[in-house]
Amino acid sequence: MGVWSLVLFCLLTTGPKPPSPIPAPASPPTSKAPPATTAASTSSLSLISLFGAQSPLTSPIAPISKPSTSPPTPSPGPIPIDLQYLVNLAVLNLSANRLSGDIPQQLTLCAYLNVIDLHDNLLIGQIPQQLGLLVRLSVFDVSNNRLSGPIPASLGNRSGNLPRFNASSYNGNKDLYGYPLPPLKNKGLSIMAIVGIGLGSGFLSLVLSFTAVCIWLRVSEQKTMAAEEGKISQFMPDY
Ligand SMILES: *[C@@H]1O[C@H](CO)[C@@H](O)[C@H](O)[C@H]1NC(C)=O
Ligand SMILES: *[C@@H]1O[C@H](CO)[C@@H](O)[C@H](O)[C@H]1NC(C)=O
Ligand SMILES: *[C@@H]1O[C@H](CO)[C@@H](O)[C@H](O)[C@H]1NC(C)=O
Repeated sequence: MGVWSLVLFCLLTTGPKPPSPIPAPASPPTSKAPPATTAASTSSLSLISLFGAQSPLTSPIAPISKPSTSPPTPSPGPIPIDLQYLVNLAVLNLSANRLSGDIPQQLTLCAYLNVIDLHDNLLIGQIPQQLGLLVRLSVFDVSNNRLSGPIPASLGNRSGNLPRFNASSYNGNKDLYGYPLPPLKNKGLSIMAIVGIGLGSGFLSLVLSFTAVCIWLRVSEQKTMAAEEGKISQFMPDY
């Protein structure tokens, strides 16, 4: 009897599984109505399968990440601005995708964003300070890009009890500066050096023009002397 119940148990457990409740996010939009939380997401983006669309109320964040074993490809271009229409987007992980161009400030319209992970891309330009308005942001990583300019205080030095991001979120961007990174690096020419060069060149030009005037005076003096000698020689008989 015990053996039979064991066999029955095995049959039951290996039997047909209950249908999985939620279709894979990559399924075509024509199939079924998407779950309520993703209803607002437009599915015209091919990138949509990379992103998790989550209700902001489900607190443990489960980022849907892209497999990192993709072959090296040319840059797929900039971050699509149309992401702004994914109003329920909670996790944006586009790390290591060779993305170029700027970080679109329109991402601010995705008010439920918890995670913005853009590390290891080719992004340029400044970090939009509007991103600091995303109060739910708990992970922000733009390290290892080509970003420049100041880190907006709204992100580098967040107010109140908003989660803070340390230097590891910003490292690896050669021209990015400001807290929590070091302040603007003086690229060879500090203000003192510029002032010094200005004063020095002013003094040098003064000296140069003075000597030029002296030389000119001397030359003209010699000329007049020569001219007078010439005048004199006109009256002198030739030998
Ligand atoms: C984003 O995806 C990469 C690659 O899968 C992963 O290593 C990283 O931890 C993810 N970021 C976050 C914040 O989960
Ligand atoms: C961060 O902000 C606080 C006030 O909001 C300010 O007192 C502090 O000096 C700032 N720190 C840096 C490093 O900018
Ligand atoms: C910076 O923050 C990350 C995650 O938020 C953490 O893993 C890391 O230990 C922090 N580094 C420092 C130096 O505090």
